Amino acid sequence: MKRILSGMQPTSQLHLGNYLGALKNWVDLQNSEPDNQNLYCVVDMHAITMPYDPATLKKATREIAAAYIAAGIDPDKSAIFAQSAVGDLHAELMWLLATMTQIGKLNRMTQFKDKAGKNAEKAGLGLYAYPVLMAADILIYQATHVPVGEDQKQHLEITRDIASTFNHRYGQDFFTLPEPMIMGSATRVMSLRDGTKKMSKSAESDLSRINLTDDADMIMDKIKRAKTDPEPLPDNLPDLEKRAEADNLITIYAALASTSKEQVLAEFAGQNFSIFKPKLAELTIEKIAPITSRMRELLQNPDEIDQILHAGAAKARAIAAPNVQKVKEIMGFWG
Ligand code: TRP
Repeated sequence: MKRILSGMQPTSQLHLGNYLGALKNWVDLQNSEPDNQNLYCVVDMHAITMPYDPATLKKATREIAAAYIAAGIDPDKSAIFAQSAVGDLHAELMWLLATMTQIGKLNRMTQFKDKAGKNAEKAGLGLYAYPVLMAADILIYQATHVPVGEDQKQHLEITRDIASTFNHRYGQDFFTLPEPMIMGSATRVMSLRDGTKKMSKSAESDLSRINLTDDADMIMDKIKRAKTDPEPLPDNLPDLEKRAEADNLITIYAALASTSKEQVLAEFAGQNFSIFKPKLAELTIEKIAPITSRMRELLQNPDEIDQILHAGAAKARAIAAPNVQKVKEIMGFWG
């Protein structure tokens, strides 16, 4: 049995890249391996490491939870919870783990460097210690597998380092070393305006992304206006991969249809974008519309979301509490 854990920050609107690169994989994993135990967390305590708006944090947390549920994370098969609802334990373990985290390693975290920017001296301790909290998120549940994007690999490595330092320092084979499951390398969804940049919520133009809140007309419009070149679609991958924008649209189609890029090319080789784009838009609407409408429905009924979050937190706590207790015992604490 695998114990799967992952999380997303409640920072802002989810888009097609988050869905195809992460959420859809979580759902497929949940459904194809029913024996696994799954924990899906909304990492709201990580979200406060960058400037944020306290007035909208709760709403953003519910929105991410709604997206999990709408995409198909089933509260009966997976624990869906807010990190802060088990925050006493996550933060407590984080402190314990902080004592076995080398500063040198934190200094090499590329995400910290990116987020801190030029003025790293002014960055908060929370941003610096972010990877230790993430390690606690994972180790507190003894997760065996952590589905994450390529950009989180380094955080998984430091998590494994911390876990083995603990095991070594206290002479106990206590922590499970979690395996990263690097997802979405095949489905890196790029901007609709520039096929060399990741689809991102922070990109200036809303036309560059498909939000999980866009309606059918908006999706159709954005795909029709997506940047492309004038050539018809090629009949082989090497030719496709030389054309960033064409490659991106084919990637999206393949991911949505749960098929390969080769298959998509076999169907559309020689066709113009004027034929392909409406087909892609139709497929996107077909796959995304049920999710967005379920999301909207849930967001109109936050009580339902809150119930799921409460139940998820109880499940998570039941796993986390004995583990933290055990760690404290091993470390020699009174009580
Ligand atoms: N750092 C992750 C990200 O930005 C989010 C995260 C926090 C996470 N804790 C986690 C992911 C634990 C997986 C497991 O994507």
